[in-house]
Amino acid sequence: MSAPTDEGEGQSLERVPQALSTREAWLDPFDWYAEMREEQPVRYDQNRQCWDVFRYEDVDRILDDPETFSSNPRLASAIDLPPEAEQSPILETMLTADGERHGRLRGVVEDWFRPRAITQRAERFEDIAADLLEDAIDGGRMDLIDDFAYPFPVIVIAELLGVPSEDRPQFRGWSETLVETPTDTSEAALEAFRQRQEQASEELAEYFEAKLEDRARDSKDDLISVIAEAAGEERLSHEEALGFCMLLLVAGNITTTNLIGNAMRCLTAHPAAMERVRTGEAPIESTIEEVLRYRSPVQALARIATRDVELQGMSIEEGDTVVPWLGSANRDPAVFDAPDQFRVDRAPNPHFGFGRGTHYCLGAPLARMEARIGLNALFERTADVRPGGERLQPVRSAFIYGVQELPIEFRPR
Ligand code: HEM
Repeated sequence: MSAPTDEGEGQSLERVPQALSTREAWLDPFDWYAEMREEQPVRYDQNRQCWDVFRYEDVDRILDDPETFSSNPRLASAIDLPPEAEQSPILETMLTADGERHGRLRGVVEDWFRPRAITQRAERFEDIAADLLEDAIDGGRMDLIDDFAYPFPVIVIAELLGVPSEDRPQFRGWSETLVETPTDTSEAALEAFRQRQEQASEELAEYFEAKLEDRARDSKDDLISVIAEAAGEERLSHEEALGFCMLLLVAGNITTTNLIGNAMRCLTAHPAAMERVRTGEAPIESTIEEVLRYRSPVQALARIATRDVELQGMSIEEGDTVVPWLGSANRDPAVFDAPDQFRVDRAPNPHFGFGRGTHYCLGAPLARMEARIGLNALFERTADVRPGGERLQPVRSAFIYGVQELPIEFRPR
């Protein structure tokens, strides 16, 4: 299985599986997951050259064993990274690091993301949410994504990092390009796509290069200063420091935008549940956990086998790429009662929305708090919220789940 073939050199998360190649399928992959969990719980996709894993117990096993299932794409035998990508700071982050190196990288900023540190900033985040809604609420109609779910987390992460939030149109362009999946897979289109990605990555690196230099001279109370200090003390290489800033910016906005967007999509589709949450009858916390399970913003991850290993009777070889489908595991009836029902008070809810194990999302406390503050702010300022458009477009990514626009109508309060 390990040898690269002539058919497509797509990397596992650079392409969607055939079954999900239409807009409709990517918006609703859940029947396909159910079929796969039942019939081919572990299967090799020749086209993408990777293993797909659909059941909860197997996803759990993969995430729980980072020694066998590495996060380092350089170990993949089917992925020939182009030389320019080999040097990309994006590959120098904790997300793609294993073992001791992973711990060293994560340790640099860990304290900043602990629940207690995040909670201290709640008031400021509430002000940001209120200001955004102040501008968007008139007229009884808004695009939830453009007017709120995108700018809110990006302003938050920009403030934490210490970059001007006015630069956010640029952040959006860069971030979306970096997680994009090409829909046109002709050679010419793929080449153009790779060039765009490379350019985005270079521009982002240049942007942060200047900021890091600035903070090395003049330290402030922000994350870039923490990263610049670690680089100054040679705890981080220059590439690692750049990758760090890029990862935090990209991870800190796209996923949370989709969590808030997916939450409103679930709640407008279940008005009785929305009322229970709005009135406090159902907790906002368990509602957010249920959105993370039911419409997980991250649907799939990638790992590389570091040794030959067997899963559901299938022989995975050293160097093979393995894709654990979080979105499928989160609907596995072996673990979740009535998994296709959206239940705002589901308990227990051991979903994989933020992953599991050593790479468990560093930003989980922040994302949870942003979603809570964002949804509460929306509930306070609106009533009778309902969908304001029919044809939803999925975000253009093979592993991120969300919609590009979410028109809603409501009564302003
Ligand atoms: C890791 C999801 C928000 C920063 C992860 C992983 C998932 C995830 C599934 C695991 C990756 C893996 O195992 O390979 C999400 C979701 C979010 C969210 C669904 C929002 C709803 C954030 C935020 C930040 C952040 C706000 C902060 C800036 C990170 C980082 C990692 C990570 C740095 C890598 C951790 C490591 O490798 O040790 N996230 N994330 N995420 N997330 Fe998030």
